[in-house]
Amino acid sequence: MTSLSGARIVVTGGAGFIGSHLVDELVNRRRAKRVTIVDSLVNGRRANLAQWGSDPRVRLVQADIRSDAGRRPLEDADVVFHLACLGVRHSLHDPVENHEVNATATLALVERARLAGVRRFVHVSSSEVFGTAQRVPMDEHHPTTPETVYGASKLAGEAYVRAAYRTHGFGTIVVRPFNTYGPRSHFEGDSGEVLPRTIIRNLCGLPALVYGDGEQTRDFMHVGDTARGLATIAECDQAVGRTINFGSGREISIRVLAETVARLVGRPDLAPVHLEPRPGDVRRLLVDGRLVRRLTGFTTAMPFEAGVADLVRWFRGGLATPQQMLARIDDRNWMPSPV
Ligand SMILES: NC(=O)c1ccc[n+]([C@@H]2O[C@H](COP(=O)([O-])OP(=O)(O)OC[C@H]3O[C@@H](n4cnc5c(N)ncnc54)[C@H](O)[C@@H]3O)[C@@H](O)[C@H]2O)c1
Repeated sequence: MTSLSGARIVVTGGAGFIGSHLVDELVNRRRAKRVTIVDSLVNGRRANLAQWGSDPRVRLVQADIRSDAGRRPLEDADVVFHLACLGVRHSLHDPVENHEVNATATLALVERARLAGVRRFVHVSSSEVFGTAQRVPMDEHHPTTPETVYGASKLAGEAYVRAAYRTHGFGTIVVRPFNTYGPRSHFEGDSGEVLPRTIIRNLCGLPALVYGDGEQTRDFMHVGDTARGLATIAECDQAVGRTINFGSGREISIRVLAETVARLVGRPDLAPVHLEPRPGDVRRLLVDGRLVRRLTGFTTAMPFEAGVADLVRWFRGGLATPQQMLARIDDRNWMPSPV
């Protein structure tokens, strides 16, 4: 085991949803010496890091990972967690930029980290590299046939990271989270995810919007588990050189998700409204979590219903009113925004 305690860590995308929880985990529980966040703030928020105030252990470098300023902080790191990326719906309206950030910039980052002598490079990929499940549960040998440029660009990124291990013995780990949810998750614009959007609609007294028949499934993990799992995997020497699927092992359909939210919000009467299917929407995802369990002993702590209740509380506790948040939701958020 390689402890993160006392380490100098860089988290790209650390002002984002998962990245900011990872920063909390690294400083609070793993006792990192210093965490430098590299984030352009295109989708991340300073507010996600507000709990750190002027704490010298946490530093934000606002920079693009496509630029030298965004890569320079790696010169001074023991461990890098690479999360910065543009999302799946962004890839539907701007595929070339999606590839530049998710694939090309990943290659440049892993090369910079290797040459700088970074000890460990944890690349956060995505289950979207698989496309829809051809068999379930999905282990690491499941075919990778992405359905979107996002999935394809994440697959290219992880291939570059694996190549750095295979060619040079660089200490890389590729982790493929399935779906993560929890406080600070996105509801707005093309980052908006189904669970926050559904909660906000129900809090406004509106029904869930379901694209297609609602029988498409996802494997949801609470972000507290995701952050703890990423740190645990990073500390595991046996994980180096590997590609690891990372999910909860519980398959939830969008129909069940909508019913769960409506019940927890106290509006079980709100029946979902069905719209046309979203392009590139994968049909089924469910992890086979045996590898991560065998390597690290990691298991999830938060059951789905309790996690959704936690998220409902968070949205109720409010940065903004549900109506203010609703105004920032695009119903068809994979289309280019109107200018
Ligand atoms: N949320 C999920 O369910 C999920 C599932 C699987 C994998 N992942 C992976 O986890 C990682 C984090 O996802 P998230 O949900 O927290 O998304 P997020 O959008 O909240 O975080 C990504 C961060 O990267 C930053 N960023 C984007 N482009 C950048 C650039 N060019 N330079 C610097 N910073 C840039 C954004 O500002 C944002 O803060 C991503 O790599 C994603 O592929 C997420």
